[in-house]
Amino acid sequence: MTNLVLETIARRYSCRTYTPQPVTREQLEALTLAGTQAPSSRGGAPWRITVVTDPDLIADLSASALRLIARHEPAAAERFATRGTNLFYNAPAVFVMAARHTWDYTSEDLDIGLATQNITLAATSLGLGSVICGFLTQAFRDPKSDDADRLTARLGLPRGYEVRVGIAVGHPATDGTPHAPDPAAVTYL
Ligand SMILES: Cc1cc2nc3c(=O)[nH]c(=O)nc-3n(C[C@H](O)[C@H](O)[C@H](O)COP(=O)(O)O)c2cc1C
Repeated sequence: MTNLVLETIARRYSCRTYTPQPVTREQLEALTLAGTQAPSSRGGAPWRITVVTDPDLIADLSASALRLIARHEPAAAERFATRGTNLFYNAPAVFVMAARHTWDYTSEDLDIGLATQNITLAATSLGLGSVICGFLTQAFRDPKSDDADRLTARLGLPRGYEVRVGIAVGHPATDGTPHAPDPAAVTYL
């Protein structure tokens, strides 16, 4: 079966090497539009997408997360050290995906995941690389620092929103391979 969407899904992989070439504003806007076109529970659209291309803010987000990762997950910190000690693999753009808290129903994570996947697939379809960066949440979790307050202010996040995941986006420096799907994960009855 030949289909553009299926082909795009099959081509996506987590890209961990980027060239310095910037992502254009038109491309960034196409990706944020795709993100906000995701379905969400009760149509709540609980996402707030902050597109960061300021290298200084990207470095601040990365360093803040890596400080806590070094304390609690030395093996992960070592992995990042071998990959350039940058949480976002030196990608020129980072999408910070934040969720609005809801008091009665807790589907925000799923909703953010759907918006996140829309963005990664849209990036693939535009010939861009992307990788989801769950470790970004560590930048906001260090009780011994003011990182969370400083970064929340720098991102301009309104009260009630919490960062759930980042997405690094840029031009791939090398080719990557999509993972092999596992047919055993599926049952037909
Ligand atoms: C919620 C989530 C968080 C992730 N966090 C990270 C991360 O912090 N750093 C990273 O390099 N990859 C991260 N990944 C990428 C996964 O490692 C990757 O999707 C998985 O190994 C499958 O490989 P593929 O994306 O190339 O198919 C994350 C993926 C998801 C879905």
